[in-house]
Amino acid sequence: MSEKRPARVLSGVQPTGILHLGNYFGAIQQHIALQDEHPGEAYYFIANYHAMTTVHDGDTLRGYVHDVAITYLALGLDPSKAVLFRQSDVPEVLELAWMIATVTGMGLLQRAHSYKDKIQNGITPSAGLFYYPVLMGADILLYDGSLVPVGKDQLQHIEFAQDMATAFNHSYAGGETILRRPEPRLSKAPYVPGLDGRKMSKSYDNTIPLFLAGKRLRKLIGKVVTDSAELGQPLTIKDNTVYDLLKLFTDEEEMAAIGEHFRSGSRDGQPFGYGHAKQLLAAKIDAHFGEARERREHLVAHPEEVEAVLAEGAAKARTIARATLARCRAVCGLR
Ligand code: ADP
Ligand code: TRP
Repeated sequence: MSEKRPARVLSGVQPTGILHLGNYFGAIQQHIALQDEHPGEAYYFIANYHAMTTVHDGDTLRGYVHDVAITYLALGLDPSKAVLFRQSDVPEVLELAWMIATVTGMGLLQRAHSYKDKIQNGITPSAGLFYYPVLMGADILLYDGSLVPVGKDQLQHIEFAQDMATAFNHSYAGGETILRRPEPRLSKAPYVPGLDGRKMSKSYDNTIPLFLAGKRLRKLIGKVVTDSAELGQPLTIKDNTVYDLLKLFTDEEEMAAIGEHFRSGSRDGQPFGYGHAKQLLAAKIDAHFGEARERREHLVAHPEEVEAVLAEGAAKARTIARATLARCRAVCGLR
């Protein structure tokens, strides 16, 4: 296999909950942008096998998968440029994971930060959770992914996938490139704080879901934790969650003006406080996702359109998967 092929973007998203602003700025936005940089070569899958390490209810998992698909399509994933599919529609990935497992040291998996973090947080690990990085390596290597956009938390898993490709190629093929070495593409995306100021994450129950609007959105934004500055007093902008969230939706020029309102505690000669800042934030989020919300409503009413995209995606992905697996089976002596 030649390395001189076009770059192929590959990434996965876990269907473990309703997607939020952190997921959007940290991952989804970049995924969708990459479809224009690499048309026809951007592959995204909904990692339902992975989600089984935490979700043990079939209906819940199905629901999350459907919701992720709708969210990507509503936010602009274009099936004529990018391939969207369900991980489990290409079960070949499980066979490649096994092959890779045979050349992956236990020590490597024991060093996995995300695994260690989860144990430290009191989770009793299943063998599946320990094996997770192997499956993730297979996800990438099966599709010849060469560019893997991820957040910082996933960087180590990509390094593992690089080691796995090298180990496999050396062990089974004398160093010939059977599996292509992937490179991470770190999202430039900002760290998105949640309602309580910690990292926005469904594990902290501090998220702002992407498609909330109107009164319910305003009510939620009202819960963003702030200091207790009185109306009209200057507001510090350092480590200020409302300010940091506003920045995500505002260009530099307007943000400079908003920064002034914060620093002076006034706007157009009137006092400016957190109530105003939160109203502004809610209005910006509402407007930013307005079109996507409409597309989403359409897709919610037409699940067959979503299924058709996933089926077409799986067919494309499976063609690549089978070719990779045939190469691997041959060098492993399985046929
Ligand atoms: P959660 O923390 O809610 O479980 P995930 O771990 O499923 O979210 O996140 C999937 C991806 O979304 C991450 O790899 C990361 O790129 C991005 N992401 C999640 N939360 C944030 C955040 N608060 N800020 C920036 N990016 C985030
Ligand atoms: N582990 C990733 C996450 O939690 C999701 C994922 C699974 C993934 N397989 C992948 C990301 C392969 C990139 C490539 O966010």
